[in-house]
Amino acid sequence: MDTSALKKELVDLVRAANDMTTLEGVRVTALGKKGRITDLMKTLGALSPDERKLVGAELNVLKDEISDLIEKQALELKKQELDARLANEELDVTLSVRPNRKGSIHPISQTMDELVSIFAEMGFSVAEGPDIEDDFHNFTALNFPIGHPAREMHDTFYLPMDERETGESQKKLLRTHTSTVQIRHMMKNKPPIRMICFGRCYRSDWDMTHTPVFHQMEALYIDKNVTMGHLKGCLSDFVKSFFGIDDLPVRFRPSFFPFTEPGAEVDIGYWKENGELRLGKAPKPENQKWLEILGSGMVHPNVISSCGLDPKEYQGFAFGMGLERATMLKYGIPDLRSFFESDTRWLSHYGFDPLNRPNRATR
Ligand code: PHE
Repeated sequence: MDTSALKKELVDLVRAANDMTTLEGVRVTALGKKGRITDLMKTLGALSPDERKLVGAELNVLKDEISDLIEKQALELKKQELDARLANEELDVTLSVRPNRKGSIHPISQTMDELVSIFAEMGFSVAEGPDIEDDFHNFTALNFPIGHPAREMHDTFYLPMDERETGESQKKLLRTHTSTVQIRHMMKNKPPIRMICFGRCYRSDWDMTHTPVFHQMEALYIDKNVTMGHLKGCLSDFVKSFFGIDDLPVRFRPSFFPFTEPGAEVDIGYWKENGELRLGKAPKPENQKWLEILGSGMVHPNVISSCGLDPKEYQGFAFGMGLERATMLKYGIPDLRSFFESDTRWLSHYGFDPLNRPNRATR
């Protein structure tokens, strides 16, 4: 059998195929189930054993040659295709990049920024204090004498005693509230004092509404002739501004803190609409409900004298607020524990754009 004519014909077809579809067509024509070479293979059965050996070998050589050629042609076509794409596709490296914002501001940081901007307008500046405190600054100077029952309510984390520590008041602990910063600030600064501070606080507590670490803000105003009227005015203005609700109902309820006299808890008004919490004045007075938002009071004379000031000359007020709770209420965040899980999906949902802040609610 002479396969040279067939070979020439197939080789020409392969060489002429200048795209992948045509080449695949040629492959089917030559080697497919009903292809030219395949058809010839099928005729081998009718030949004598000697002829079959000879023709079989020749057809196998032809088959290998053609499929090698097709493979080479395919590689060549792919290379041409890539070269053409590279020649056509242009990339202008001088174009400016598309904004790709990664990361966002944690809601607690956002709240802190908003608070700074509200209190800065009222003349308050920001103070700081350490997370690891001693008994004196966390309790004794705040009028919690040793053995005072209110100490028990703080579920304090104590640090192991150091051999250099001599008395109870040097005992190290993780601060249970930011009132420690009041003490440090009053000991170092002369009135008039107007300061706010923020910080992590620690209590050994863990459930739906408590985490062992949480954030507080504290504010302190000390001057001559400061009254409860100043406290009420400052706090009502502040909560209305923070929540961005002009007629937000605010209620002061007598309460006890060792470091205040008198002390008051502050509630803000809310109501429910279709089971959802709405801050503000209820359309019908009988539906008005109240939420506790912060603790406050006139600074106790014992605290003022612990810091080396004369309580006959100076008075003041202070308040402390949990930042997680305030943030949850303002931004409708349902679960306290999610604040500490570092889940990036939560952060990108509730976080704030770093280039667009602080967005404090304006009145
Ligand atoms: N330090 C108080 C607390 O953690 C809050 C507070 C601060 C209350 C200042 C009154 C005045 O509960």
